[in-house]
Amino acid sequence: MSKVLVCVAWPYANGTIHLGHMAGSILPPDIFSRYNRLLGNEVMMVGGSDQHGTPITVSAEKEGVSPETIADRYHEINKKAIEDMGIEYSLFTKTHTENHIETVQDVFTTLLRNGYLTTHESNQYYCPHCAKFLPDRYVEGVCPECGAQKVRGDQCDACGKTFETGDLKDAYCVHCHSAPEIRPTEHYFLKLGELNDQLLGYLEGKDWWRPNVRSFTTNWLKDGLHDRAITRDMEWGVPIPMDGWDSKVIYVWFDAVIGYLSASKEYSKIIGKPDYWKEYWMDPEVRHYYFLGKDNIPFHSIIWPSILMGYGGLTLPYDIPANEYLMYKGGKFSKSRGGAIDMPTVLSKYDSDVIRFYLSIVMPDTHDSEFSWEDFQTKINTELVGNLGNYCHRCLSFTKKNYGVVPETDAVNAEVAQEIDRAFKEYSEYMQSCDFKKAIKVIMDLSHFGNRYFDSMKPWALVKTDKDACGKVLYDNLTVVRALAVMMWPFMPKAAERIFDYMGLSELEAGGFEALNVKLVSGTELKDPVPAFSKVEIPKEVLDAEKGLLDGGSAEPKKKEKKEMVTVADGPFKDFRKLDIRVAQITQIDDHPDAEKLYLMKVDVGEERQIVAGLKAYYSKEEMLGRKVLCLANLKPAKLRGQRSEGMLLAADDEEMGGSTVLLLKPSADVPNGTKMNCGMENSESRIEYKDFTNAVLKVGSCTGNVVDLGDKFDVEGEGLPERIAVVLDDGKVVPISDGNGCFATVDREITNGAGVR
Ligand code: MF3
Ligand code: ZN
Repeated sequence: MSKVLVCVAWPYANGTIHLGHMAGSILPPDIFSRYNRLLGNEVMMVGGSDQHGTPITVSAEKEGVSPETIADRYHEINKKAIEDMGIEYSLFTKTHTENHIETVQDVFTTLLRNGYLTTHESNQYYCPHCAKFLPDRYVEGVCPECGAQKVRGDQCDACGKTFETGDLKDAYCVHCHSAPEIRPTEHYFLKLGELNDQLLGYLEGKDWWRPNVRSFTTNWLKDGLHDRAITRDMEWGVPIPMDGWDSKVIYVWFDAVIGYLSASKEYSKIIGKPDYWKEYWMDPEVRHYYFLGKDNIPFHSIIWPSILMGYGGLTLPYDIPANEYLMYKGGKFSKSRGGAIDMPTVLSKYDSDVIRFYLSIVMPDTHDSEFSWEDFQTKINTELVGNLGNYCHRCLSFTKKNYGVVPETDAVNAEVAQEIDRAFKEYSEYMQSCDFKKAIKVIMDLSHFGNRYFDSMKPWALVKTDKDACGKVLYDNLTVVRALAVMMWPFMPKAAERIFDYMGLSELEAGGFEALNVKLVSGTELKDPVPAFSKVEIPKEVLDAEKGLLDGGSAEPKKKEKKEMVTVADGPFKDFRKLDIRVAQITQIDDHPDAEKLYLMKVDVGEERQIVAGLKAYYSKEEMLGRKVLCLANLKPAKLRGQRSEGMLLAADDEEMGGSTVLLLKPSADVPNGTKMNCGMENSESRIEYKDFTNAVLKVGSCTGNVVDLGDKFDVEGEGLPERIAVVLDDGKVVPISDGNGCFATVDREITNGAGVR
């Protein structure tokens, strides 16, 4: 058993936290912390509200209230939302406390004493009209690095670049919009240069850091380490503990990162062991993990380690598993995009476990990911309810009904035991390296396995012919369910505990992963189970509002709802016949003039079309130009960021399978542009809505002979089928997409079997 310090980036208390904060920096540390608790590790998880700095004062001025009013109001709101989400900090505190201010001032004076601080005059923006210095967010302009507009004085949200005074182009004062002057003012500086070698030594060999963290950090270091101002000309913040500095305060970033230390101290006082924090901060064996969004990286990978080194004797970050952004409607999450994505609102409508599940499977860990209510509904209903919830419930309720207790057995079926073992090993590796999206995929796969095992043993028939044999099968299944419950606890704690309770088990957390090595006790009374999850229904207005942007949509990534196979058996699916899919060729390709992530291209579908597509992350222009593709040609044209898009390129996307591959579909034979890929069926050419496309079920899988593997295997008709093939569900049947004449839809490379097409 070891100690682990889990640090969570402090959200600014100038607004309500939303799904972006949750997925980006708040849920991941809770998952990690719970995982460690199940291992038997002693976890201290700290964080709180970032209450200082210009984010708070700017909001306060807008409302005409004091900074403290804003900072405390949102602290309370956010604290409650965090608790309601089942996020268990050891302490969620705030920065405007005596304890924090004292700790920051102690760090400040210690760094000063150790020779790492200096004062000098530097240039700051000054608004002559308002007669004020303009720190950070009081000045806006154009980013010199990436050209983004309306970026703040201290850092560009778009590219992450941090600025020195004067860097910003076309700067203006946010109050009066006049151009600021640059005036000298005296400040304290952190002498980063003196820590240069130590810092490089620290960064050396941190090869377990995520690539994005490494690259943000090295980019920052490229410009060399200069002294950085750590005080500001403003009143709200931690006072500078020096005489004659009353008109200035400590810079919010210098103050906030120290929060990890001050919160550890505060927690120690609260539990009545004032020195407890030292066991975490002064023992170099204790690993410190920091969870945050990508714009926070340099402050945690460079500034904070520098402060700690300058202070001396305290442990440096071990890992900084920073996430990218969760996007909504193609942009960063923000209140202005609407969609009721703030946590209190979301929590008033949906169960916290359900939200936690969805955020876990779309977590933006290696690249930005896209949130949509439509996708939320699909994933919850098909995967969480349809797969995991359904499996647990059918095992529990069937056993309860027919046996009332955990049935007798001699031993768990070897294949089942092995599968649990394998899944747990894989899960453990992913959890250990903070790959939570992959870990939850392992849980879902184990549940699939369970479902298949249950079906293949047909307990509903067996119970009538051989009740003992059936009991053994159910014992196996209950063992799988228990493993699922333990493994899902970090992700969905309430549901996991309920499942435990139905099984007559208790103390999930205390038992930890050890429980997996203990045999279920036959004869244990089962309780009447209630399904662990129920379906969600997103109000039509919300979906319609969302579609406003999606309708007639392009191939912008990850917007598409993916239908699950399980629904197929329910009825005829003729939606495919509405789609006019044609062989096409890309004849021209450019960057979209107004959208970083989009291409603007000309495509020959038998006639020329202009198409906007979000494929930049996956294909270079060289790879695209001249390429043969498949195009959905009868989609209602739409404007995407001001450019007309008259169709959509089809691509396989294994996002939902936990992967991250996007592969363009292509024809398997050299057929003329405009060739219809309608499987030799009648299809309609009339204009369709984007929704009509998402109603059709298209998937990609590998093909051997006449069997296609889509996760589950299906027989298909046809001759000369390629090794990898895109299929469609039509009228309850799996049909290879083809021109009806030997040309099939295929992809160049391997992709997860069953990946959807969008
Ligand atoms: N308040 C900052 C933000 O929302 C994050 C601060 S993290 C801390 O971007 F470590 F500095 F506290
Ligand atoms: Zn001004």
